[in-house]
Amino acid sequence: MAAQKIKGKGENEQLIDPVAEMPGFDDTESKIAILGHPVHAMSVAFPIALTFCTFAADLLYWWTGDPFWARAAVWAVGAAFLLGMFAGLSGTAELLLVSGIRVRAAAWTHFIIAVTLLSLLGTNWGYRLLGYESAVLPYGILLSAVGVLIAGFTGWHGGKLVFDYRLGTSKGN
Ligand code: HEM
Repeated sequence: MAAQKIKGKGENEQLIDPVAEMPGFDDTESKIAILGHPVHAMSVAFPIALTFCTFAADLLYWWTGDPFWARAAVWAVGAAFLLGMFAGLSGTAELLLVSGIRVRAAAWTHFIIAVTLLSLLGTNWGYRLLGYESAVLPYGILLSAVGVLIAGFTGWHGGKLVFDYRLGTSKGN
């Protein structure tokens, strides 16, 4: 981040570094980790993969009419929701406990996208519990298709937090 000038000081104007002014900005360690490996990063693969599996099972049900795929979809989306909640809890703990993560706007953006995804997964699962076969066409598969898009966006954005902002990677100060 570029240093800013304090205006109105004439010749002797001072330069301040907003990063240096913010204690803990560079503290981006992971606090919810097993031997230094973040639990959040380890757990997000499951809800993402299961969200894609749900959509694939819906497409196969549409194509074949075999109730097996409708049953596979209700299990896949239920597991995606529950494992997504687990991943979300570990991510939320990081967000609240680590000051360098808490101060980044991008971390809160990721939180909002992820909660949208979790709400969608919960809706998709709950809707299917009322009748998993009749739920697929058309609304179940539509919810799954939107889920795939939002899961992709959530995962891509999470990667941005790690690979661009290096969140969860430092060992702290
Ligand atoms: C609901 C609250 C959530 C919060 C507050 C949150 C927060 C974070 C944070 C702080 C990171 C940086 C790495 C770390 O500190 O562990 C991260 C990474 C990531 N998040 Fe989330 N997250 C949430 C939910 C989710 C969900 C539901 C998914 C996907 C289903 C997801 C996907 C990812 C991915 C893919 C990464 C990158 C992991 C890596 O490449 O190492 N997050 N998240």
